[in-house]
Formats: sequence, C-alpha cells, structure tokens
Amino acid sequence: MDARSNTIAGWVLAGGIAALGLSIVSGMYFAGHEPEKQGFVIPGVESSEGGAAAAVVPIGNMMAAADMSKGEAIFKKCVACHTIAQGGANGIGPNLWATVGKPLASHAGFAYSDALKSKGGTWTFEALNEWLANPKKFAPGNKMTFAGLGNPEERAALMLYLNSQGSNLPLPSPVEAAVANAAVAEGAAAEPATPEGPPAPGADTSTPTTNATQGPAQAATDNTK
Ligand code: HEC
Repeated sequence: MDARSNTIAGWVLAGGIAALGLSIVSGMYFAGHEPEKQGFVIPGVESSEGGAAAAVVPIGNMMAAADMSKGEAIFKKCVACHTIAQGGANGIGPNLWATVGKPLASHAGFAYSDALKSKGGTWTFEALNEWLANPKKFAPGNKMTFAGLGNPEERAALMLYLNSQGSNLPLPSPVEAAVANAAVAEGAAAEPATPEGPPAPGADTSTPTTNATQGPAQAATDNTK
C-alpha cells in the first residue's frame, strides 16, 4: 500500500518535472524572433514594436534627394546581367529599358522564373525599392542572383536612373518634413501609424474632425507603400 502510493507520487512528480522542462525549452526556442526590417529605415532610429512604419522615410523624399549620376554609376553592378538601352539584348537578365511602370516579368523574349511571373503587379517605385533591397525576399525562388542593395540612398539613386531610361514617370511626391515628423511622432506616441488606406469598414468618413487629423498622416504613410 505504502510502496504503491509512493510509486504514484513518484510518477506525478516526474510528470511535473517533464512539463516544466518542456515549457523552458519551448520558451527558449520561440524567443527572439524579430521581424525583419523593411523599407527606408532612418539610421539611428530604433524601431520598437509598432513604430517600424513610422521610422521609415517616405519614398518620395528619398527620391527627391537622390542623385541620378550616382544611380548610373551603381547600375554598373547590374550590367553583367542586364542591358538597359532601348532594344538592348536580353542577357542573363532581361533588358531593362522602360521597366519602371511596366508589369512584372513582361519583357518580350525573356524566360522569367515562375516566382517572378506569379508575383503579379507593376514595377512601381515601391515595388522596385523592395526588389532591389532584397530580390530573394521580394519573390522567393526567383533567378536573379543578386544580394540586394542595403543602402536606401543607393536604391533611390538607382531608381532615378532606371526611370530616366525610357519610363520618365512622375516621381512619388515628397512628404513635407513637418508632416513626416508629425506622423513619426504620432506613430511613436500613440497607435502605430499603420494606415487604413481606404476608410475602415463602418468608419464614418463624414466626420470632419477625424478627417482633418487623419489627412496628413495618411498622406505620409501612403507614400511609403
Ligand atoms: C547575376 C545576374 C544579375 C544581376 C547582377 C542583376 N540582375 Fe536583375 N535580373 C536577373 C535575372 C536572371 C532576372 C530575372 C529574374 C526571374 O525571372 O526570376 C532579373 C530581373 C530583374 C528585374 C525585373 C525585370 C522585369 O522585366 O520584370 C529588374 C527590375 C532587375 N532585374 C533589376 C536589376 C538591377 C537594377 C540590378 C543591379 C542593381 C540587377 N538587376 C542585377 C539577373 C541579374
């Protein structure tokens, strides 16, 4: 009788220890998965949870400050695989004449990967910015073996140059510094400045007061998309 209840107590204890061990191990395993950074992150500004969107420089501002001749120089990194002159041949990568504004994976005569073909959309400045920062992340499994340009200023300059080669689209408009700062401050202080592009379902868009305060923040964040 005694021995039997000791055995039962022993098993209960062992079970408890096993459960505790498991929770410690799973805690270690799942801890510390930080979200990866995206877009133009201002150096020196640490993005905490929810503040990531606010710490990003709007693309229009980056491009307004960009230097076209630098972009042309940076394009030397691409010429091993790409031509950019009008009517230029496809190489390892497709000819890039007038790529800005074109649908993805649409240059005649180039055999694109399924990864890029199935991505869809057009080469907006926003899309190009993401692609050039990290092609692998933008379209996992694509066949452009290029690590990416980590420097947002370099990407902006390069996009300025790409745009000058057959596209000449209007640049995304810069957001005024005061408005951008306000958006950053608002994002840091209150809720994260994640925009609901169109008004949230059920939102009362006729309320003038909320529109007045949302206006600038929305304009600022629209440019970062
Ligand atoms: C090592 C070769 C290589 C280098 C270097 C390279 N690319 Fe590419 N690029 C490719 C390939 C291959 C593709 C097609 C990818 C696919 O189909 O998955 C591509 C696709 C692209 C596309 C999409 C074109 C379209 O028609 O949709 C753009 C834009 C582009 N590259 C820009 C650049 C720029 C800008 C650089 C320089 C910073 C660069 N690439 C460097 C090989 C390269």
